[in-house]
Amino acid sequence: MQIKKTLAQVAPYAPGRPIDEIKRQFGLSEVVKLASNENPLGASPKALVAAGKAMQDVFMYPDPNAYSLRQALASHLNLQPENFIFGTGSDGLIELVCKTFLAEGDESIMPDPSFSLYELNVLANGATPVKVALNKNMQYNPEMLLSAITPKTKVIWLCNPNNPTGGMYTEKEQLSFFEKVPENVLVVVDEAYYEYAAGNADYPNSLALLKDRKNILILRTFSKIYGLAGLRVGYGIGDSHLLAELEKARPPFNVCSPALAAAEAALEDEDFLNQSLKANKEGKKYLEEAFTEMGLPFVKTSTNFIAVDTKKDAKTVYEALLTKGYIVKGGHVLGMPGYLRVTIGTLEECKGFVEALSSILQTL
Ligand SMILES: Cc1ncc(COP(=O)(O)O)c(C=O)c1O
Repeated sequence: MQIKKTLAQVAPYAPGRPIDEIKRQFGLSEVVKLASNENPLGASPKALVAAGKAMQDVFMYPDPNAYSLRQALASHLNLQPENFIFGTGSDGLIELVCKTFLAEGDESIMPDPSFSLYELNVLANGATPVKVALNKNMQYNPEMLLSAITPKTKVIWLCNPNNPTGGMYTEKEQLSFFEKVPENVLVVVDEAYYEYAAGNADYPNSLALLKDRKNILILRTFSKIYGLAGLRVGYGIGDSHLLAELEKARPPFNVCSPALAAAEAALEDEDFLNQSLKANKEGKKYLEEAFTEMGLPFVKTSTNFIAVDTKKDAKTVYEALLTKGYIVKGGHVLGMPGYLRVTIGTLEECKGFVEALSSILQTL
């Protein structure tokens, strides 16, 4: 057998390790996962009820056009139903973009470090990732990516706020970028953490760009603040002609019916959204104060995770945290050596994490 040669150079995605696996490995009864930026409050109870009801119909294929969720989002965001495309998480849409736009000989530009699935999917389609390093403050401005454009550039990835650093760029910076970027290059603006960042006065209004631009695809997800990571539903927002091209490569039943129903109910549950924002603000304040007290630099975050510089070998700290029942992401797999990326948990989880981290750092 011979796999496609483009896949030979692809390293599989390194996911946060599952709780049960760590319990088994270290014989622990309690393990806290702060590794995949899930919502520590769980999911909206209304979403769970909706998913439960939808289970009765799982013997039938789901609605391939996501009619009901599409209408709900169109009304929620004041757009047209044809401005939406749905994916098996936004991961599924990243894959779809690469499948639709990239082949051998093409180039695709991204910040570095950023969400690793951009690079993985670009490589899997035989194209070349062109990585533009963040500045020394672990930030980037989309204009930094412009100088990397060549005639071979087909797709540019903007991750805002950026994963794994948590920082965001501003409205002014995004507008200035779009004035200069060629119209024949697709720009994907990945806003997986949109709901956490949107309260910031400088956060870009990407939807406003859709009026004049055909080359922008905005990605959002129900996996983060909506707490539905396990159901796998994300959506893309863009011009209907662009989406029609992506639709050609989309698996028809890529979002299951419980996921569609849960997402629609979650969208309407503003109370849950507000509680989640409040809990995140509390946890963030606690962690920022604790890191400051410990003398550990961190990146100012507009998300539900925070990147902290341990000033030690991140892999060693990450592994020691596992033995104490805390799963985070080590910077050694994220392209930011020395750092840990920690999901902002409940206040109690954050306190336990800080205690574990402090005791580990004292021994190193
Ligand atoms: C920036 C970014 N984009 C996309 C995703 C994928 O999310 P999902 O596929 O669950 O929608 C993530 C998940 O961590 C992310 O951080």
